[in-house]
Amino acid sequence: MGQPEDIRMDRPHLNDLPGPVIPEGYELLTYRPELFEEWVGLLDRAFPEIAPFDPGSWAAQTVERPQFRPEGTFFARRDGRLVATAFAWLDDPDETELGRVHWVGAEEGHRGKGLGRLVTVATLHHMAGRGLRRAMLDTQRYRLPAIKLYLSLGFRPTSGSDDDRAVWAEVLGELGWTEN
Ligand SMILES: CC(C)(COP(=O)(O)OP(=O)(O)OC[C@H]1O[C@@H](n2cnc3c(N)ncnc32)[C@H](O)[C@@H]1OP(=O)(O)O)[C@@H](O)C(=O)NCCC(=O)NCCS
Repeated sequence: MGQPEDIRMDRPHLNDLPGPVIPEGYELLTYRPELFEEWVGLLDRAFPEIAPFDPGSWAAQTVERPQFRPEGTFFARRDGRLVATAFAWLDDPDETELGRVHWVGAEEGHRGKGLGRLVTVATLHHMAGRGLRRAMLDTQRYRLPAIKLYLSLGFRPTSGSDDDRAVWAEVLGELGWTEN
């Protein structure tokens, strides 16, 4: 699943998860088939540098695969519009330990309100609830707001190589982040 430019973070357990906080005016919901087109539209808005998402290929890598779980696929909605999302994934459908937090995004006008945190926390609770033990994610070094969010939720950098270690040293330096 990982791409060459990806950097990985891991949460070594799913204990001590914070409770989900739903900001006023928003609702938290899970996937239903009638939300599929809106989900793709939200991805276009949350990831303009990747858009446009192709509905057919998005379906092929999500809802049409055996590990897709509607109840592990979260959205924040306001005034009938999806504005943030994240979902739980298993790289291998038979995986029993390690969940992947996948495609966390909020559209620009709704960032900074706690929605990225909400959908990520909801995803982690879902993983814990189905008996998974650990979580991981891939991100990119330029996604500093996301990395700061993941650090605050107990994810830590995972380095498989010297290059990874160098990238992480730079990223943590840019964030001014130190373990305390
Ligand atoms: C990453 C993203 C999902 C965060 O969503 P959000 O709703 O804006 O984040 P929240 O309001 O829940 O903030 C949660 C934490 O994230 C961090 N954070 C959020 N925005 C930040 C920013 N602009 N700069 C630094 N840290 C930031 C903070 O730690 C924040 O906690 P705090 O408010 O207690 O300081 C959002 O910025 C986004 O969609 N970015 C583009 C897509 C992307 O990069 N997705 C991640 C893919 S791996």
